[in-house]
Amino acid sequence: MTDVAANSDSLTVRDNRTGQEYDIPITDGTINAKDLGQIRTDENTPGLATYDPGFVNTASCRSAVTYIDGDKGILEYRGYPIEQLAEKSNFLEVAYLLIHGALPTKAEYDSWVHEITYHTFVHENVKSFMEGFRYDAHPMGMLMASVGALSTFYPDARNIGDADNRHMQIVRMIAKMPTLGAWSFRHAQGKPFVYPDNDLGYTANFLSMLFKMSEKKFEADERLVKALDVLFILHADHGQNASTNAVRSVGSTQVDPYSAVAAGVGALFGPLHGGANEAVLRMLRRIGSTSEIPAFIEGVKDGNEKLMGFGHRVYKNYDPRAKIIKKSAEDVFEVTGTNPLLDIAKELEKIALEDEYFVKRKLYPNVDFYSGLIYEAFQFPPEMFTVLFAIGRTPGWLAQWLELVQDKDQKIARPKQIYTGDRELTFTPSSERWS
Ligand SMILES: CC(C)(COP(=O)(O)OP(=O)(O)OC[C@H]1O[C@@H](n2cnc3c(N)ncnc32)[C@H](O)[C@@H]1OP(=O)(O)O)[C@@H](O)C(=O)NCCC(=O)NCCS
Repeated sequence: MTDVAANSDSLTVRDNRTGQEYDIPITDGTINAKDLGQIRTDENTPGLATYDPGFVNTASCRSAVTYIDGDKGILEYRGYPIEQLAEKSNFLEVAYLLIHGALPTKAEYDSWVHEITYHTFVHENVKSFMEGFRYDAHPMGMLMASVGALSTFYPDARNIGDADNRHMQIVRMIAKMPTLGAWSFRHAQGKPFVYPDNDLGYTANFLSMLFKMSEKKFEADERLVKALDVLFILHADHGQNASTNAVRSVGSTQVDPYSAVAAGVGALFGPLHGGANEAVLRMLRRIGSTSEIPAFIEGVKDGNEKLMGFGHRVYKNYDPRAKIIKKSAEDVFEVTGTNPLLDIAKELEKIALEDEYFVKRKLYPNVDFYSGLIYEAFQFPPEMFTVLFAIGRTPGWLAQWLELVQDKDQKIARPKQIYTGDRELTFTPSSERWS
């Protein structure tokens, strides 16, 4: 209880149960949930709390990594617009930016690339256990298990209070994710694992580990390398999304970062997070030709189905990543030959963007509208789409983990619950209950 209206950056709350008024400070557009705890009917009842399943209106941290303005369609990593990073940077430089908070000097960049390049190999035992998965194991399940297993290879990673040690694990994880991702893919195909080729850049090496067969060196078309690199950049971070929240929540126990990132991979595996691009492909195939689009749109407007790849919880404007991906799709198809589904997608987008139904509801293409088409052009099976997402998101997860472990405000994640079950029952042993 404080002086009402003593501070203009505050919220005055009147508890009608007691008639008491409280003045709660507002900082950065939020109130501290702990301040609500003082609002209680008497000393013996718990203080007031908030109920917010899915954290739709609750900030869980302060973060300086990624800025998103969904109404204006803005996405920035460490203050740099995603459009500029996608066009002028590369994935490893963006990873450096996310992790360190600033762009590298030439010497810093060279050393970062060198470190990552020379940590792409994994212990031979990792190879043996990955070979032990069932022949049809989902690559995402393999990736999740393998990242988690790295914690057993680097037990020193538990020393999260040491900055040099944290740096070492971050380098290892960014370096090894493509190796684990590519091997998960090769396993499902029954093909031998390909070792990293340290002469190649990050993304070119990943493509080599995915697709190399008997040739001495696998050198992918530069345009394909660039397109995949851009996709990694676009997926590198996105604020407090479900998988990042999982990484932070598990990381808040002070576990090693491999275990925390394995939790992020698990969250990303879920269809509500990483799976919509596959649904877009299914939809485009079902539409089949541009002449069928008007009938399809009518069906969407009648509420019979959704236009997959449109709409976003945060973006109520064109998802800035979708614009960049559309351009990448065109570049990729120049190399791989056109896919008639791209024409359907572009026409669908054009019609939808002019249609009152979509305009009124602020429904624009999201990141998944074109990404599945690109992945398909690379001949990735749909199960691999989320693995690609996970490789791209790894620097973001780690930047957020780093922020978490250095943030004095953070505590072990332990949400409140509203208990709805029975109380104070009397237990009867089974010998009496069942007789
Ligand atoms: C992403 C998504 C779940 C966001 O949902 P949301 O923020 O909860 O938005 P709502 O479900 O409240 O939608 C608001 C309105 O737009 C409509 N709408 C939203 N997305 C739509 C879509 N893709 N196609 C047709 N109508 C859509 C809803 O039916 C609702 O209409 P109403 O007001 O007449 O009831 C939703 O847009 C969606 O399901 N999109 C398709 C799946 C997809 O592409 N997911 C990937 C996200 S990156």
